[in-house]
Amino acid sequence: MAMRYEPVLLKGIGEADLRDIRVYRERGGYKQLERAFRELSSAQVLDLANASGLRGRGGAGFPTGRKWQFLPANGAPRYMVCNCDEAEPGTFKDHTLLEETPHLVLEGILIGAYGIGCHHAFIYIRGEFKRGYEIMRRAVDDARAAGFIGKNLFGTGYDLEFTIHRGAGAYICGEETALLNSLEGKRGEPRLKPPFPAVEGLYKAPTVVNNVETLAYLVPILERGAEWFAGVGTERSKGFKIVSVSGHVRKPGNYEVPLGVSVNELIELAGGPREGRKVVAVQPGGGSSAAIFEEHFDLPYDYESMTKAGSMLGSGAMVVFDDTTDFVKAAHSLVRFFAHESCGQCTPCREGGHWLERTLARLVAGYGLQSDIDVLESVSHQMTGLNLCALGDSIEPFLASVVKRFRPQFEARVRRNGAS
Ligand SMILES: Cc1cc2nc3c(=O)[nH]c(=O)nc-3n(C[C@H](O)[C@H](O)[C@H](O)COP(=O)(O)O)c2cc1C
Ligand code: SF4
Repeated sequence: MAMRYEPVLLKGIGEADLRDIRVYRERGGYKQLERAFRELSSAQVLDLANASGLRGRGGAGFPTGRKWQFLPANGAPRYMVCNCDEAEPGTFKDHTLLEETPHLVLEGILIGAYGIGCHHAFIYIRGEFKRGYEIMRRAVDDARAAGFIGKNLFGTGYDLEFTIHRGAGAYICGEETALLNSLEGKRGEPRLKPPFPAVEGLYKAPTVVNNVETLAYLVPILERGAEWFAGVGTERSKGFKIVSVSGHVRKPGNYEVPLGVSVNELIELAGGPREGRKVVAVQPGGGSSAAIFEEHFDLPYDYESMTKAGSMLGSGAMVVFDDTTDFVKAAHSLVRFFAHESCGQCTPCREGGHWLERTLARLVAGYGLQSDIDVLESVSHQMTGLNLCALGDSIEPFLASVVKRFRPQFEARVRRNGAS
């Protein structure tokens, strides 16, 4: 079946064993790394990242080149850390890249490391991704043997080391400063910012943390040019995005599209709703994002439009809900996840998460009080913006959006004599 959009990062997956370094190289792999080292300065790689308009694909959508420019220009030792923790509910693109095309991921990290002028790069892999971890270990061994990691790369005198670290299975370790603590062997808890990692990151040295997909896009950007990437997408959301579409669609999976296709088109690419069913809500940016509704489905899927609709594009995970959804249960399940994953440092996140979870559990069981619904709304609004990291702010958006839209579903769970 012909694909509607030409895949970029997902190209070749399912056709060839891209885990084999020979296959990857036969298809042009590692040529851009060599070109970067032989023909471009670090500053030129950074210029390309800037000119492409590439924004971080890990959640916040921060411009990648600009993030690199926050590093001090004094040549002090610095680190590049690739974030492959990927535990956001609904997101499953990074581990696909890791398992299916590890050399592309590695080539992107090494190019990014060169772009910031660092000599030691890391990848932090989620604890549960054992298979991906083993695949990456082999990829690193093969790349080292081929001369792409180590001393005096391509005879240029540039040394670049690489370390793989496997986490222990905590969602919070995807937050960049918790990740750095975990990488240092400490408890995986977010740090107080500032200082930001670009000033004081891993081992107190300036550090860039970038997502797997972000760094992988550096390879086609070098190959096909920054203008090619910047020419795709919308005015402020450039290039391509892998969107993990799941939930009530017939063909859940990863779909790589130019930013700016409509939400409806993404639902359709994923096979559309189930027979006889109607989509009533979508989470456009993973578990942390508020739901959007039918009146938003014609909007372009880009950073600006999703924000304007009251949600966010986040990590690019679209969770689709049809008219069979029990939104009380859906909200409970998500809040339970966040409450469980809270590291406990901040009171609103630690206490608020558990209160919301317990209140929702009562409603799910049909023992809720009428006042519970108002409490859900007021507690959730008191939790945002008061925490050390964005996890505490992620508990509320989906819950608040579905309580507002589907309030009768919540009211129906109030026990019959529970008037107060
Ligand atoms: C609770 C929490 C979990 C996160 N998990 C991830 C993750 O699994 N992968 C990721 O790339 N970014 C994650 N982030 C965002 C990172 O902190 C960081 O912004 C990102 O890695 C930067 O990469 P980018 O600029 O390439 O997007 C998370 C943030 C929070 C608050
Ligand atoms: S917001 Fe939650 S997860 Fe983040 S630092 Fe505070 S307690 Fe920990």
